Amino acid sequence: KKIAVFASGSGSNFEAIVRAEQEGRLDAAVSLLVCDKPQAAVVRKAEALNIPVFSFLPKQYDSKQAFETEIVQELEQHSISFVFLAGYMRLIGSVLLQAFEGRIINIHPSLLPAFPGKDAIGQAWEAGVKITGVTIHYVDEGMDTGRIIAQEAVNIRRTDSKETLTNAIQAIEHRLYPEVIDELAGKLERSF
Ligand code: GRF
Repeated sequence: KKIAVFASGSGSNFEAIVRAEQEGRLDAAVSLLVCDKPQAAVVRKAEALNIPVFSFLPKQYDSKQAFETEIVQELEQHSISFVFLAGYMRLIGSVLLQAFEGRIINIHPSLLPAFPGKDAIGQAWEAGVKITGVTIHYVDEGMDTGRIIAQEAVNIRRTDSKETLTNAIQAIEHRLYPEVIDELAGKLERSF
């Protein structure tokens, strides 16, 4: 079972997923990184790990359909069966959604439907909530709106800063995402 990770940033989730595979905790092979920011740190991480990269500059294409058509070709060439978004800062369009219907999953650093969109940790911090967390969900055409697969809560304590909260959320992400990927990949095998 080959999977692709889409990321635009530092790639700590990407690394955690690859580490899980290396340690035998993932019933899937991370076979492609897709990145819309060729300068992002995640690209160098994938290269260091010998994982194929498809990176592209969206502004060099006429439309989202145009670059998503190329992404779908790359996914098919690498026989990818699932796509996991990990800090891919872009809405998925109709071309990808149709080609990979029900097989695109995202991780988001809040308890959705609270705090969708950018800087969810900052939004929760500013709102003064006492509980936030992590959500893993299927991707649809909306912004962080698809059906929820897994959630885990984090208490925000009086002694927390935005930084300690961010660290706590990331620690959960790095454990929970590989667990969910492993489970989904196992289900795929059983359905054949
Ligand atoms: C994560 O917090 C994820 O939930 C969000 O983007 C962030 C990506 O961080 N969608 P990283 O690049 O994996 O470190």
